[in-house]
Amino acid sequence: MQIFNRLAVAASVYATAWLALGPAPVTASPAVSYNNSLVEQRADPHIMKHTDGWYYFTATVPAYDRIILRRAQTIQGLSQAAETTIWRRKSSGVGSGQVWAPEIHFIDGKWYIYVALGVANQWHIRPFVLEGTGSNPLTATWTEKGLIRTNWDTFSLDASTFVVNGTRYLIWAQQEPSRSDENSSIMIAPLQNPWTIRGTAVAISRPELSWERVGYKVNEGPFVIQRNGKIFLTYSASATDHNYCMGMLTASADANLMNPASWSKSRNPVFVSNPATNQWGPGHNSFTVSEDGQSDIMVYHDRGYRDIRGDPLNDPNRRTRVQKLYWKADGTPDFGIPVPDGPTPVRLRSYADAGRFVRFSAAGSSGVPSGEAALADTQFRIVSPGLAGGSTVSLESTSNPGVFVRRMDGGQVRFDASGSLSSAAAKAAASFNRRAGLADGDAVSLEASDAAGQYLGLESNGRLVVSAVGNDVAKQGQATFYLE
Ligand SMILES: *[C@@H]1O[C@H](CO)[C@@H](O)[C@H](O)[C@H]1NC(C)=O
Ligand SMILES: *[C@@H]1O[C@H](CO)[C@@H](O)[C@H](O)[C@H]1NC(C)=O
Ligand SMILES: *[C@@H]1O[C@H](CO)[C@@H](O)[C@H](O)[C@H]1NC(C)=O
Repeated sequence: MQIFNRLAVAASVYATAWLALGPAPVTASPAVSYNNSLVEQRADPHIMKHTDGWYYFTATVPAYDRIILRRAQTIQGLSQAAETTIWRRKSSGVGSGQVWAPEIHFIDGKWYIYVALGVANQWHIRPFVLEGTGSNPLTATWTEKGLIRTNWDTFSLDASTFVVNGTRYLIWAQQEPSRSDENSSIMIAPLQNPWTIRGTAVAISRPELSWERVGYKVNEGPFVIQRNGKIFLTYSASATDHNYCMGMLTASADANLMNPASWSKSRNPVFVSNPATNQWGPGHNSFTVSEDGQSDIMVYHDRGYRDIRGDPLNDPNRRTRVQKLYWKADGTPDFGIPVPDGPTPVRLRSYADAGRFVRFSAAGSSGVPSGEAALADTQFRIVSPGLAGGSTVSLESTSNPGVFVRRMDGGQVRFDASGSLSSAAAKAAASFNRRAGLADGDAVSLEASDAAGQYLGLESNGRLVVSAVGNDVAKQGQATFYLE
């Protein structure tokens, strides 16, 4: 159970903390740092970390005419890594049209690419498989295994695969003949080998909710992440403009995944456009892990503008982005919002109270919010250099870009927009010197840039302050934060 501890404050905006009570801690994993966007003009991105330590990247190119691969030792390294074309559009027949949404998987010692291929001048998209031999897929020898035969010869795309309890499944998007007014449902079937399904596929999700039917009636781009005894299947819905968004299905790992009733659909989308961060049409995601193996990373595409001229599929500027996937105390994923361009944000978790995070609280809001604090309200970008320049840092709200943590005289803290931080004194009040954590050197403390010995701290009542700490052990703990 979570409750909020918010001080009643009049006329100004003061910081509060999110307080989580109860036995289940939020998964602790150290902060990661990436710079978005990761790769321009690459949509439907898939990043996998292989056992050889390399990250492999593939995605849709705007010309829809080839399959590309990159690799790097870090996720950020994919941004500038050389790109290899391993397959090109053909002159006729299958593969002479669209080349969409490749994914790369390593199965039983060989590489496989699942890709949707079209036929020139036709709306005829079907899933196709390539098999690669060799340790490095950029230089592997590729063999065409052909189209995947499914229940029907209908519009189908976005194949992905995962294993549960020794059974490998294929998931994809397909138009069901009985639902010809809809573009695609999410299908599942066990695999007999990487290019052949076993038995009859079943539909586990259809575009039935209003947010799945804007522009087009679409469920597509399925991908699975498994955790806490659950299978979480994310997918994307609606047209590929700013209405594009992500939904989620959940099943128990021990359920019969071929029974549609084993899957429950989240009633609301889990990841949507965000005007404040200027991110539009996020979706077609995959998941990978951070370099230290301790964080889940969500990979997705979106656009940096809302409005598109003409068919969204002809707009080349869907770009690959990455951000940390957080986990709620109940064991379900917390996607948050698509974070702003630039360095990814962190959360500041209190050393003194593991259930508390520095949290933005909105101007003029009244009463106690119900439910959990929105993840984005507990995320901040550590802007470096800070507003005061030099070696200082500033904390910029993720839910409210351009709004910074600012020390007031008297030790209170509030959130100010950069417009009211124009004077040198105000900039200094919104800037800190980053120090080793006072209570734990592996953590972080933030000393006011204009008030030596005064540190940002979360008091036990949940109030965010900047105050003198001295040798007070309790205050040192309150002024120490783990970055997550
Ligand atoms: C982040 O990426 C942008 C765009 O590619 C680039 O201009 C900027 O310098 C990068 N920032 C950092 C901190 O690497
Ligand atoms: C959805 O279906 C309509 C009607 O068949 C078609 O015109 C459109 O291109 C399809 N869109 C997508 C994204 O598949
Ligand atoms: C895993 O598979 C085995 C063998 O098919 C089966 O006996 C067992 O019940 C399965 N476990 C779960 C958790 O589904």
